Amino acid sequence: MKTDKIALVTGSGQGIGRATAVALSAFSHVIIADIDKVSGKETVSIINKKGGSSRFVYLDVSDSDSITELFLNISSNENKLDYAVNNAGIGGEMKLIHELDLEDWDKILKINLTGVFLCMKYQIKLMLDNKFGRIVNVSSMAGTYGFSRGSSYSATKHGVIGLTKSAAIEYGSENIRVNSVCPGFVQTKILDDIPDYVLDFNKKYRVPMKRIGKPEEVAESICWLLSEKSSFTNGHSLYIDGGFSVG
Ligand SMILES: NC(=O)c1ccc[n+]([C@@H]2O[C@H](COP(=O)([O-])OP(=O)(O)OC[C@H]3O[C@@H](n4cnc5c(N)ncnc54)[C@H](O)[C@@H]3O)[C@@H](O)[C@H]2O)c1
Repeated sequence: MKTDKIALVTGSGQGIGRATAVALSAFSHVIIADIDKVSGKETVSIINKKGGSSRFVYLDVSDSDSITELFLNISSNENKLDYAVNNAGIGGEMKLIHELDLEDWDKILKINLTGVFLCMKYQIKLMLDNKFGRIVNVSSMAGTYGFSRGSSYSATKHGVIGLTKSAAIEYGSENIRVNSVCPGFVQTKILDDIPDYVLDFNKKYRVPMKRIGKPEEVAESICWLLSEKSSFTNGHSLYIDGGFSVG
């Protein structure tokens, strides 16, 4: 595949990030960035075996030095960035607020929110140089309403939507569009921490489509938001939840 487009997907070692990286490889070179080297390199090998182009760079989004290193690496290799998907995230501790330790809170904030902010800061600099950029941040349906025992997660995902909207306003005139996605329950390892009875209840009574989503279904929506098919969509938060959020 011949393309001059460069994409970065954080947390692309598995789950939604991997599915997005694979889908994106149909129209761009993809930089796979993840804290897990083994799974990240597996994603590279899946893409490259399919005839796509990708490479792995180690990234810990909770470490500002690691983020700086990633972007120095991109600057000295590709030296531009067209598409960025800020996807790396964790579910955090499932505790009530009065049980939550500051340590738990700080950990998830660093990964799910500060990590997105710092990555966006560098991505936007590269995109401004190139006068082109498309960013999709992975929020959650928990980014638009609260969840019992999910306060820290929900707070970070609300923050991601706030960052997205503000960036859309700041850079809309610079040919940089910034959107977010709000997945519902999607079949990845992050669901391992959610008890089966909770998932079963939600499938039966809360999700009109009566099922859990697939990572590939989120990936397709992200690719649409990055593509010119969504050319007037900016600052939007797109639910991909089988209808959970509508009532
Ligand atoms: N699966 C769902 O139901 C669901 C729903 C809504 C939102 N999301 C969001 O989707 C995103 C992807 O989650 P997923 O469901 O694919 O989970 P996952 O656990 O399968 O994948 C998360 C990926 O992020 C990587 N990662 C974790 N910490 C990192 C760090 N500090 N630095 C770099 N990489 C790191 C992991 O190694 C992994 O590859 C997350 O932001 C999550 O909050 C998931």
